[in-house]
Amino acid sequence: MEIFPEHDLRTPRMRLRWLTEDDAPRLVALHGDPDVMRFLGDGRPVPPAEVLGRTLPVMLARHGHRNLLGYRAAEDAATGDFLGWFELVPAGRGRRGEVELGYRLFPSAWGRGYATEGSRALVRAAFTVCGAERVMGTTMAVNTASRRVMEKAGLRYVRTFFEEWPDPVEGAEQGDVEYALERDDWRA
Ligand SMILES: CC(C)(COP(=O)(O)OP(=O)(O)OC[C@H]1O[C@@H](n2cnc3c(N)ncnc32)[C@H](O)[C@@H]1OP(=O)(O)O)[C@@H](O)C(=O)NCCC(=O)NCCS
Repeated sequence: MEIFPEHDLRTPRMRLRWLTEDDAPRLVALHGDPDVMRFLGDGRPVPPAEVLGRTLPVMLARHGHRNLLGYRAAEDAATGDFLGWFELVPAGRGRRGEVELGYRLFPSAWGRGYATEGSRALVRAAFTVCGAERVMGTTMAVNTASRRVMEKAGLRYVRTFFEEWPDPVEGAEQGDVEYALERDDWRA
């Protein structure tokens, strides 16, 4: 992994650059894809107006350029194609130095190791440049692909928990799972 002055991260096959306003059409397509959204929120595609009016502004507001936390568009390094996004953001539950890892890719990019490659790069960045003490992530228990990505990035299963959903998606009865990796357990 290389970090460039403008805070781009490069992995062997991807450029991970800051998400911007210009990514709006790409985000609308990604969050509007039923397969992508299957295990997220209410399991339904997000309407364009909501992506533009709420999702993207919230994501952009979470950028903290100095500590390298935020949302990154993943581009194929060879073609420049937009593959999806990765997030590394404050976990938001008051534990100092705890950051949350996440990812969302177009189905055309699935099964080729991109999520694992990007997640490993972000875990490394979390501990080497962001000053993180702990990297965590959550997903639905039935989201096997996401669980596997976290495992392959070095995170370990912590717990299963249950949240109230107004309109639960199939598999919600199995709950959500948390995975995490402490700085002391991370090996460069
Ligand atoms: C989750 C997601 C990012 C995985 O991306 P990906 O690039 O396909 O993941 P990788 O290619 O790095 O695969 C990682 C592992 O998951 C496995 N995997 C991938 N898709 C799988 C599936 N549908 N079922 C079971 N295992 C799967 C891979 O085989 C691999 O494990 P292995 O090396 O032991 O074989 C992608 O499916 C996605 O964007 N899904 C929609 C959004 C989402 O659910 N995000 C997570 C929300 S918490």
